[in-house]
Amino acid sequence: MEQPYFDVVLIGGGAAGLSLALRLAPHARIALVTKGPLPEGATLYAQGGISAVWDQNDSIASHIADTLNTGAGLCDEAVVRFTVERGHDAIQWLIDQGVPFTRETRPDGTLDYHLTREGGHSHRRVLHVADATGRAIEMTLEQQARRHPNIELYEHHIAIDLIFGKKLGLADNRCHGAYLFDRTHNHVKALRAKFVVLATGGAGKVYLYSSNPDISTGDGIAMAWRAGCRVANLEFIQFHPTCLYHPQAKSFLITEAIRGEGGRLLLPDGTSFLEKFDPRAELAPRDIVARAIDYEMKRLGAECVYLDISHKPADFIKSHFPAIYARCLEFGFDITKEPIPVVPAAHYTCGGVMTDLHGRTDLEGLYAVGETAHTGLHGANRMASNSLLECLVFGQAAADDIHAKLAATPPPPPVPEWDESRVTDSDEEVVVAHNWDELRRFMWDYVGIVRTDKRLQRAKHRADLLLQEIAEYYGNFRVTNDLIELRNLALVAELIIRCATLRKESRGLHYTLDYPELDTSQPPRYTILTPPSFAERSGSAAGSPN
Ligand code: FAD
Ligand code: SIN
Repeated sequence: MEQPYFDVVLIGGGAAGLSLALRLAPHARIALVTKGPLPEGATLYAQGGISAVWDQNDSIASHIADTLNTGAGLCDEAVVRFTVERGHDAIQWLIDQGVPFTRETRPDGTLDYHLTREGGHSHRRVLHVADATGRAIEMTLEQQARRHPNIELYEHHIAIDLIFGKKLGLADNRCHGAYLFDRTHNHVKALRAKFVVLATGGAGKVYLYSSNPDISTGDGIAMAWRAGCRVANLEFIQFHPTCLYHPQAKSFLITEAIRGEGGRLLLPDGTSFLEKFDPRAELAPRDIVARAIDYEMKRLGAECVYLDISHKPADFIKSHFPAIYARCLEFGFDITKEPIPVVPAAHYTCGGVMTDLHGRTDLEGLYAVGETAHTGLHGANRMASNSLLECLVFGQAAADDIHAKLAATPPPPPVPEWDESRVTDSDEEVVVAHNWDELRRFMWDYVGIVRTDKRLQRAKHRADLLLQEIAEYYGNFRVTNDLIELRNLALVAELIIRCATLRKESRGLHYTLDYPELDTSQPPRYTILTPPSFAERSGSAAGSPN
């Protein structure tokens, strides 16, 4: 039977995937693959907003300086400039698509978009849709993608692995498609394409406590690594300082914009404490705030700290933070009257698949955009609200690059169907559930906000054992959604641990008691991991930091 092929197989339907799809769809036939329903992903839950220089008194230079400063010396300045300079147009594109950003009447009577503030930003420059910005973006773009004749949706399909030259016994170094597990009909299909894009989001689910949705299992990072792409800076996992502390809340995020609008963090006895750690106090970058909370919770043996905005008028709180007000009320907290119990949780994966300014990876025809990519924008710590911006800017850059190459790119070669002749159905699903829990717990305990060499060694030992066990299981049993995700989580966990072990200093989000200072003896450098197949191609040493 003739195997269908697309111009582009695009894996991921968040801000990065959807913006790329809509920019490219007038010129290319796209298969848009999402492992759950299309809107489900981190984008849907983004709260605070999206940063861009919008105010006349703000400047590109200031946004760049704040990003570089927050990134603790590890941002690529050219990438920061590239992104920030495109911020205004990216917002305008969203407005043109119909995203209803919150407006306000300025003192001079004019109506303009309301700009909020978050940690690290020296100006008000975060556009938002109340406190549910991501939902507004995702829903607006989703509607357009659903009705576009050039976009074919593959919802409830989880990509397992990429199909590339070496796997097919070809001499090329090119990506030709992906194997997808159809979760509805329980079978695996191959999709071929001239280009493949990974827009699969982050890996927050590697940790026990995370603000991320269940889909954030690092699949794109794991697939790219197995296909021979380098990854960088995975030690920089961002912990958001304020997630609701409640057993049923599943780490519900309390936006940093609450602090931007005057919210204070308090110890259980009601005293404020952040000014002891940084003169910017509530508006210090996230790494500093999360570490300060972690320190105080451990010092006091406290289960949480408190975030208080109740001194602001109730109408202000309800109109600026309607979703958070409603959600907290469901759990019994009226945020107009009382402080909110909060704890830090894993939130954002700063590192990822290495890409250039067009979103291109080490494998020809393979792109990575959004949280799954490492572009160089975030350095050692992402500044709040810069990630949705990165999704849009790099979504467009990759779309432009693919468009320019499409006509001259030949169709993909035939690919073999998925071979299930040597596997059976698992009779021990409990193994997957057990390994999943164990992994996320040791990552939280040993590779969390504060690290040591010893904790990292312990984590590495456990990750290696799990990887071995999962490989055996994977080789013997039919794939399931949970097994695919666990295999990826374990691999990404191991890559995070390796990156963390290689960084012998504390910088940005990576803090270790064994090297508590910044290493100023040499220029700041990325932690780059090189997979064995990349090393074979290029002759460099596998797994070495470059
Ligand atoms: P996602 O939006 O996570 O989408 C990933 C997509 O990939 C999904 O469609 C998923 O189904 C698909 N996928 C994944 N793996 C597979 C697979 N194997 N097969 C098929 N499909 C797959 N950033 C900001 O800039 N501002 C904010 O205010 C903000 N608030 C946030 C609040 C929360 C609670 C969280 C969790 C994050 C927040 N962030 C914010 C970060 C930001 O939301 C994310 O970095 C961004 O949305 C990532 O977009 P993405 O398109 O890369 O991935
Ligand atoms: C938040 O609203 O606090 C999250 C913003 C972000 O992660 O950029």
